[in-house]
Amino acid sequence: MKTLFIDQTVDKVGQEVKLYGWVDSIRNHKKIIFLDLRDRSGVVQVVGDEKLTNISTEDVVYIKGLVKKRPDKLVNPKIKTGTVEVEIKDFKILGKSKTPPMPINTAGYEIDEEIRQKYRYLDLRRRRLTNNIVIRSQFIQFIREFLFAKKFIEIETPILTESTPEGARDFLVPSRLQPGNFYALPQSPQQYKQLLMVAGFERYFQIARCFRDEDPRADRAYGEFTQLDMEMSFVQREDVMAITEALMIDVFEKMEAKIQKKPFPVFTYEEAMKKFGADKFDLRTEDEKKQNIQAFAWVVDFPFFEKTPEGGWTFTHNPFSAAKPEFKEQLLKKENIGEILTTQYDLVCNGYEVGGGSIRSHEANVLETVFEIMGYSKEQIREQFGHMLEAFSYGAPPHGGIAPGIDRLLTCLTGEKSLREVIPFPMTAGGKTAVMNAPSAARPKQLKELGIKINK
Ligand code: AMO
Repeated sequence: MKTLFIDQTVDKVGQEVKLYGWVDSIRNHKKIIFLDLRDRSGVVQVVGDEKLTNISTEDVVYIKGLVKKRPDKLVNPKIKTGTVEVEIKDFKILGKSKTPPMPINTAGYEIDEEIRQKYRYLDLRRRRLTNNIVIRSQFIQFIREFLFAKKFIEIETPILTESTPEGARDFLVPSRLQPGNFYALPQSPQQYKQLLMVAGFERYFQIARCFRDEDPRADRAYGEFTQLDMEMSFVQREDVMAITEALMIDVFEKMEAKIQKKPFPVFTYEEAMKKFGADKFDLRTEDEKKQNIQAFAWVVDFPFFEKTPEGGWTFTHNPFSAAKPEFKEQLLKKENIGEILTTQYDLVCNGYEVGGGSIRSHEANVLETVFEIMGYSKEQIREQFGHMLEAFSYGAPPHGGIAPGIDRLLTCLTGEKSLREVIPFPMTAGGKTAVMNAPSAARPKQLKELGIKINK
């Protein structure tokens, strides 16, 4: 097993080390050859002689060598291992590489997206992307540490499930055992996390994959993205906002980010619309943008409902939200519907909506009224949400939650412009998976088993 990562060679001056990694670059001065050897942690300069000539860039090699301090004038301050170099005693090629279809030692923004995704395993070798993925892992680790310390527990919820309304199209999966019936992939774990509160877990979180068939944009991944899904019992709006804010500050500062304002400024929806003309906004100056300062803010007091083009009502954020307490009676009476404000809170950072949540209706009659306002018949409510109403009739605790978007938070933290730069294997804008060729045709036998005929 490999025991030494390349960034640790700085501490090994005078010692013989065994290194494993990729050949990042080769500089051939005939009798003396310099390699930059790369692994996940960094690069180190390796010095050898003519015996190294069969090596090409991106080959995987094993190198045994002596770590030597570089003379002062040859120190490279740009890399962590710039004070040392490794003199080769022995080497072996473990995996030959063809010439890569794109450069790997550049930032990569200039390269065609299709090529980058087709060869994502090579794209991920570039330092910028390797760092982003390592940052993603650390970020999630800090989230877990914070939440476990606050008595949250991590629970997985199903991926093959029933449709839950989040405002996008569902991805459907045909059932073989019940031909003609379909599972939906979850747009979020909204209903299951509420059921976990009914079950008595009190504080839940999940690094949850969510699936939404909606048109992609720079801040919206097509197909799937990741939420930090949280839900808590016996809380009010301010409690969820406070714990989320403490989490963001803790994790971002552990990642060495600078936060513009603490506590985060809070705007009502009305104030935000007046001031910024939108419910997400960037509070940074141009100079702060250059320094990648993080400008968080909250938006609260959204209208619960908005008019549909047909003249009915639909939810603005989440049908499972509760109205603000002072509007509860009005909601139950279905009066002045357009004036009712919800407990919804959105977290904004650097111009993105990076999270949203609310206190929920935990009383069956209140939730039922919300669906009635949106024009659902008693029958439809029973069919689609009967399980929630039933669950709420067995002692449901008051509860609320939030779901910060991990990918959007990471674009803020890293200063990247596109979500694809922080997702290991993102889809292309056209909805094709990275490296593998999905969506693809199903085999006739599979279609037959599923009772599906393709009509095109
Ligand atoms: P919402 O739909 O607002 O709320 O999603 C929560 C957060 O998830 C992120 N997000 C996305 N990120 C990347 N690509 C997408 N296509 C995408 N869609 C959403 C955003 C967003 O703020 N169930 C509720 C949460 C709750 O009430 O607890 C929900 O899913 O950062």
